[in-house]
Amino acid sequence: MYNAFFGFSESPFSLSPDPAFLYRSEQHEEALANLIYGVQSRKGFLVLTGEVGTGKTTMLECLRDHLQTQHVEFAYIFNSRLTPEQFFEMIAFDLDLNCDRKSKPEVLFALNNLLLQSAHEGRTTVLIVDEAHNLDWDVLEEIRLLGNLENRRGKLLQIVLAGQPEFDRKLDAPNLRQLKQRIVLRCHLRPLNLMECTEYIESRLAKVGMRDQTVFPDEVLAQIHNRSRGIPRVINAICDNLLLTAFAMASRVSSIEMLDEVCHDMRLDWPGQSRALRRRSEESFEPLYSPRGD
Ligand SMILES: Nc1ncnc2c1ncn2[C@@H]1O[C@H](COP(=O)(O)OP(=O)(O)O)[C@@H](O)[C@H]1O
Ligand SMILES: [Mg+2]
Repeated sequence: MYNAFFGFSESPFSLSPDPAFLYRSEQHEEALANLIYGVQSRKGFLVLTGEVGTGKTTMLECLRDHLQTQHVEFAYIFNSRLTPEQFFEMIAFDLDLNCDRKSKPEVLFALNNLLLQSAHEGRTTVLIVDEAHNLDWDVLEEIRLLGNLENRRGKLLQIVLAGQPEFDRKLDAPNLRQLKQRIVLRCHLRPLNLMECTEYIESRLAKVGMRDQTVFPDEVLAQIHNRSRGIPRVINAICDNLLLTAFAMASRVSSIEMLDEVCHDMRLDWPGQSRALRRRSEESFEPLYSPRGD
């Protein structure tokens, strides 16, 4: 909507986990490198955790791109609210297994053959599960069993599980102890700090054609970081709304007042909120009569 006004080639703050917009913060870079290394070296179980909106799905999308360029076969399960039957059906579908996909024994048999064949040809196979915190216990148990498949060169199936921090707590349950012990690599995504948040916004704007961005002044950038608590998804939502507000006011530069309005409409809470709003309402208080008496 505002793209032409600001001269953007496309929307800079879309909410989709698009690897084309990847901002390589140190931790995102490290997480991706770990996932790729873990898969390549046949480590078995890898776990990626992070709060909602910190970039887990984006990392998985980058991993998926990497696997595709390397011609590594993978199954990608993004809807984790599944029964064990649906889970096997999805694996069979993604890996294009030639069997009755509704029959667990047949899927397991075909999967085993595929894994052995791939391993024989020096290739590995990957199972990626997003939103793993939603997995049912019995599906987690099936995943653990799949992780047992191995030959003398290592695990046949590399399993990447991404989920919110409660997934880590779920793994602490006694019945999942065995799975937990098998996790060889863990990455955690934390929110961005102020410098990363600024670079993140700049990198997205540069991607759509605005080098040396001029829309968000420093004090606005600092407040975007504060109010989003450094969570990329919230940063995107704030910036998108802020650009829309600036556009509606025919302004090429955003302001704290616009940000206040946006955050109010988004019903955001942030640290120091009541203090900041009180101060601002005092500043903008206009006396009903002029103190000079004229
Ligand atoms: N490192 C990053 N580079 C670019 N965009 C990112 C990054 N991390 C997160 N985002 C963006 O933030 C939003 C939420 O990311 P997402 O991967 O869906 O988070 P999660 O899966 O952890 O909830 C998406 O719009 C995504 O593009
Ligand atoms: Mg996600």
